[in-house]
Amino acid sequence: TSNSIHGNFLHCLSINSQSNSIPFYTPNSLNYSSVLQSSINNLRYSTPTTPKPLFIIRPSQDSHIQAAVICSKKHGIEVRVRSGGHDYEGLSYVADVPFILIDLFNLRSVSVDVEDRTAWIQSGATLGELYYGIAEKSRTLGFPAGHCPTVGVGGQFFGGGYGTIFRKYGLSIDNILDARMVDANGRILDRESMGEDLFWAIRGGGGGSFGVVLSWKIRLVPVPPIVTVFRIEKILEQGASALVHRWQEVAPKLPNEIFLRISLSAVDANDKGEKTIKAIFDSMFLGVAKDLLVMMKERFRELGLESKDCIEMSWIQSAVYFDRFAPPDSPLDILLDRTQWKGYFKGKSDFVKEPISQVGLEELWKRLLEEGPTLILTPFGGKMNEISESETPFPHRNGTLYMIEYAVGWDGSQGSDELSQKHIDWLRKLYRYMAPFVSKSPRAAYVNYRDLDLGQSKNGTSTYSQARAWGRKYFKNNYERLVQVKSKFDPENFFRNEQSIPSIAYLG
Ligand code: FDA
Repeated sequence: TSNSIHGNFLHCLSINSQSNSIPFYTPNSLNYSSVLQSSINNLRYSTPTTPKPLFIIRPSQDSHIQAAVICSKKHGIEVRVRSGGHDYEGLSYVADVPFILIDLFNLRSVSVDVEDRTAWIQSGATLGELYYGIAEKSRTLGFPAGHCPTVGVGGQFFGGGYGTIFRKYGLSIDNILDARMVDANGRILDRESMGEDLFWAIRGGGGGSFGVVLSWKIRLVPVPPIVTVFRIEKILEQGASALVHRWQEVAPKLPNEIFLRISLSAVDANDKGEKTIKAIFDSMFLGVAKDLLVMMKERFRELGLESKDCIEMSWIQSAVYFDRFAPPDSPLDILLDRTQWKGYFKGKSDFVKEPISQVGLEELWKRLLEEGPTLILTPFGGKMNEISESETPFPHRNGTLYMIEYAVGWDGSQGSDELSQKHIDWLRKLYRYMAPFVSKSPRAAYVNYRDLDLGQSKNGTSTYSQARAWGRKYFKNNYERLVQVKSKFDPENFFRNEQSIPSIAYLG
């Protein structure tokens, strides 16, 4: 019965950890639902029929995680590990088999060493907590990671981590110096004891495959005391189409200090119910407005940037500014707010290597006018071109002009599966339309924009060629090395989810 599973498991935990007060929630606990829901970002995975964990552990010490791994293994129960809960497909808190949830909420300290320009961060910290922690100690140090402050360090560092300064400094994973991790035997390893193969794999090989990372040591990067942001919005009737077309050539070649992305979505054109497409150009420059204006005039005059569009601020304020869910002038401590935007959504990703033709764009607008998705185009280039494809498992480097993120959201609160299916089908149709314009063989995808449409293994039962098919989309030629590392360090495939790296012994 579930009571005896709980009793046995609790007994096992107390024997195997150095304390007997592990925060533990069963479905009968008062706080079980609120703890479970606290960081579920995609509400598609929070319905009455979504499978729920047998119980939740919120470790407050490393030894609690060691014990949870040892006991799950002993009792043949799967684990799901959750840091910020932003996984697009809910893989950090949902499974089709009996499972427990290890939620890292209590392990989220950030300790910054300004002199050494490094920091140790526990996996349960959010990006907002990381940025805030750095700014508390220094206004001229920063870190390249994502835009959304409620995203967890744990998941993001496992997959890449791009944001406003990645063209200058690379991804989060390019700036990780060390990590402490609990492996499938419940041991704690660091870089030295895990060795360079496993350390390579955990910097980009995707969450949930190799162990539970407790904390990461990162290299902080210099940021100037003043940075400049701007936002320019253009609809089709104001020449958005030609600007987007031109942007494809310009943005990936801009100086590394300039980040200029585009968000595209359908908006009302007038009050007669007609629609148009709006392109929002969002930029962050590591420097003052005067210098940015000169560069933009030289390189992208058509955009028409003027000094009135530019706002100078500190780097840490720009982290608030880029949080699309908070007013741009919010106080800095909003970065510590873990209250998340939550919604019903489906996302996908692509990498573009050749500019899309004007005709291709016109057809894309027609499709976007049918439905209300958002496309975010993130320029690559800069430092990303200098790092080889095999340096980390993240292979989308030189030759990538930009990444496309597709996201469609809807109000699913009425619980209509049909409505959800309609939106998801529509996104899949758009994705099919985009095939000729994006990377091929494989059509690549960003592992942090997890997409189960690419393929999935139900309870570890896929064959090698099936798993390789989606694995190569995320990791290209790095996939085989990831499988080798997995097979060596977790041969029994203990850490697994629908898209984890498989151990060769478990594949047909
Ligand atoms: P979550 O806790 O859901 O974990 C994700 C995966 O990692 C799961 O498989 C989980 O089991 C595993 N995992 C988590 N912690 C672990 C640990 N300590 N040890 C081992 N495995 C662990 N990306 C980006 O690069 N730049 C950006 O700007 C953004 N912006 C953004 C905004 C929003 C609103 C969303 C929903 C997502 C993004 N992302 C992003 C994508 C984001 O990087 C990705 O979803 C991360 O995996 C989220 O990390 P969390 O810790 O929040 O996820």
